[in-house]
Amino acid sequence: MLADSLFIINHFAQEFFTQALLETDEGRHIGLSYLQERGLREHIIQKFQLGYNPENGDAFARAALDKGYNAEYLLKTGLIARRAGAQGSEFPYRDPYAGRIIFPVHNLSGKIAGFGARSLRNDPHTPKYINTPENEIYVKSKILYGLYQARQAIGREDECLLVEGYMDVLAMHQAGIENTVASSGTSLTTDQLQLIRKLTRRLTIVYDGDAAGIKAAQRGMDLALEQGLDVRLVLLPDGEDPDSFVHKHGAQALREFISSHKKDIILFQLETAAADVSDDIEKKSALINQIAATLAHLQDSTDFLRRQDYIRRCSQLLHIDEQGLTSLVNTFIR
Ligand code: CTP
Ligand code: MN
Ligand code: MN
Ligand code: MN
Ligand code: MN
Repeated sequence: MLADSLFIINHFAQEFFTQALLETDEGRHIGLSYLQERGLREHIIQKFQLGYNPENGDAFARAALDKGYNAEYLLKTGLIARRAGAQGSEFPYRDPYAGRIIFPVHNLSGKIAGFGARSLRNDPHTPKYINTPENEIYVKSKILYGLYQARQAIGREDECLLVEGYMDVLAMHQAGIENTVASSGTSLTTDQLQLIRKLTRRLTIVYDGDAAGIKAAQRGMDLALEQGLDVRLVLLPDGEDPDSFVHKHGAQALREFISSHKKDIILFQLETAAADVSDDIEKKSALINQIAATLAHLQDSTDFLRRQDYIRRCSQLLHIDEQGLTSLVNTFIR
């Protein structure tokens, strides 16, 4: 089957990249020293099976084709690409991830569905990350980076933490917060939330405290509530992600910051908005409608008390009638 072939190729690639990182001079001098400069310890590099794609533009493509893997399947994985103007050239393929750090992305059963590849340069003309294109086994909307490595801790802690990026997952795991996964820079999807919901109903979103981070968190909120998740939000200081936070303040400080800044996302949204509306009647009724629509997502039989509690707090905060808000919420319930 096609899917099996793609998994086999990805497995071969992961071993090739890991060996290139740990057992070649180039990999050690360039790749491994980059990871060490970023503070990553060996056990994390191993746990996540990180790798390195040599700079020489077709080392992987040659190794994979030599090994007998089908070029068409290799192209599908995104691990090789056709060389531009390759007609009649001696070897028509190249490595799109050449010179990059490789982050394998595992599915829940531990098979490698795809890869993220980070450039070692920070120049604006090079894309920082390249990700596997959508194919039969890599469906972006159904993938959470780190879920395989985090699944047991998520069950144990009965909580899942969600961060933005690859390096954030590694930094969190290294800091001992092993129940962490990443949405990898995309907005959350229902499929991703369902994956989490199977393991726990408590989701804590840990995003950068800037406007973009707040917006991304709020976008995920209604979807998460619909899935019956109990969502909390931790906003890091503006401009920080978990990885940069650990670098500045250390692992202990990150753990303390997260545990002391968990905020119920509905109350967070309410307080931010309430501070903003003051006496403007139109703004206020738009806000009330928006909140009522959000609360209407709490439809589980077990959500009844939570919904009532939110309604009570909202009415107090906005100085409106509790019964009135209850009726409004009910109009949004299908
Ligand atoms: N991302 C991506 N393609 C990019 C930029 C970002 O796919 N060109 C995704 C990656 O999954 C990345 C996440 O969005 O991890 C968050 O992006 P960003 O904050 O810019 O990167 P970091 O994860 O912080 O990576 P680093 O610390 O290495 O800069
Ligand atoms: Mn940001
Ligand atoms: Mn960012
Ligand atoms: Mn970041
Ligand atoms: Mn970062």
